[in-house]
Amino acid sequence: MPVEQLGIRQLDNRDMAWLLDDKYGMFIHWGLYAGPGRGEWLMHNEGIPTDRYRLLATDRESNDYFAADRYDPAAWAKLAKDSGMRWMCLTARHHDGYCLFDSPHPNGFSSMRTHGRDFVEDYVKACRAAGLKVGLYYSPLSWRYPGYYDVTGDDCNSNPFGYEADASHKDNARLMKEENYANVRRLVSRYGKIDHVFWDGGWLGQQGTDADAAYFHEPGRYLAPNNAWPIDPQYIERDAEGRPLGMMGVVRAHQPKAMVNPRYGWIGDYRDEEGGHEVFGPIRSKDVYQKCMTTAGAWGYDRGALAEGRVIKPHEIVEMLVNCVVRDMVLLLNVGPDRHGVIPPEVADTLLAAGRWIESMKESIYGTRGGPWQPEDRRVGYCYRGDRVCVHLMKEFRGDAFALPFDQGFKPIRANDLSTGQELSINKGEGKYTVEGMSEGSMPNRVAVVLYDREILPRY
Ligand code: GLC
Repeated sequence: MPVEQLGIRQLDNRDMAWLLDDKYGMFIHWGLYAGPGRGEWLMHNEGIPTDRYRLLATDRESNDYFAADRYDPAAWAKLAKDSGMRWMCLTARHHDGYCLFDSPHPNGFSSMRTHGRDFVEDYVKACRAAGLKVGLYYSPLSWRYPGYYDVTGDDCNSNPFGYEADASHKDNARLMKEENYANVRRLVSRYGKIDHVFWDGGWLGQQGTDADAAYFHEPGRYLAPNNAWPIDPQYIERDAEGRPLGMMGVVRAHQPKAMVNPRYGWIGDYRDEEGGHEVFGPIRSKDVYQKCMTTAGAWGYDRGALAEGRVIKPHEIVEMLVNCVVRDMVLLLNVGPDRHGVIPPEVADTLLAAGRWIESMKESIYGTRGGPWQPEDRRVGYCYRGDRVCVHLMKEFRGDAFALPFDQGFKPIRANDLSTGQELSINKGEGKYTVEGMSEGSMPNRVAVVLYDREILPRY
């Protein structure tokens, strides 16, 4: 759907400057799937029917029970902070439809009903108390609704639950949409300022793209008068002129500056790059890109990955973050707490070890922008702030010297090895300056800070 039809202005890079300054956040996938520990797609992957899946929230005797008895979001926030992260983003509701907050809709399946608790409320307070920005992940799709697979009531697609096409599914899908409007309105209006909203799963029936399903979800500014899946008026929010707001209309009405990804089928304030693959290529330029990836197997708690020691290494985190920074991207790194609410200690350790490097090199991370020169994959990348350029020497860079291009009269006047503080020599050569004397460094990534004779101008 064209942007104009969706009618919502994207935030610009000035509105999102905090994100480009903060660089590094903690993603948290936590929900009923933490019990079995086979990842957050458990219900769908194993075709677990709704009534059996519900036992994860109610059967206290089971080893898979979502006990949440050590839920301590202040401890998550402390870990995030001590690891160099500056915001958090929690799965308020994943695709299984279980809400970690008090869903105001009669169909809402929520921690308030099963545990008498609003986990999101405590989480938001903990973020704020720690000085972290607040992010919420929300999935528009819910496997609890057969109508999700069959919005028109005549084609149930392939689904793992054995649902078959049924005319009643059309209204069931409408209820799914209605629950979303009720839930999101609550999430954006109840807890004060929300800085980041991460949609995931705007598609329908496990098919097509998020944008393909915009006719159903109506993610733009307004709801259409004759949409075939109308929302009950009590869940509709209106603007000052009485026009009914679509999903992003609702978000912007309460959180005008929240930065929101595109994955509900709208245009999006920024772009996602999802998964653990390496970040390559040029500076991402005009759009802000957020790399998101996980630390140990699945996004949700993954017993198998932990048992096999498949946990990201500190130097891999550092490389990923540096690869983002030099391309003007940000990194959202995921953890999956267990059913008690505890982030696995081996994951916490790896985050803290990476955090020690980040702290010691913070001048070359926070508040910088990618450039002024394009990176060379795996070898070297640049970021700058004011009159300083940070040169990140990456894992395939060998030696103790690197070159800086002659650039429109900008002159380097001093260079230091950031890890040792040691001054480096700058030699003028043919078409370039050569900087010499870098130490070995304790990580594959080394950083030099070069002071120039004037401010570096933004290029990209
Ligand atoms: C993928 C996964 C989903 C996870 C998301 C995070 O889409 O399927 O479970 O929440 O990535 O970006």
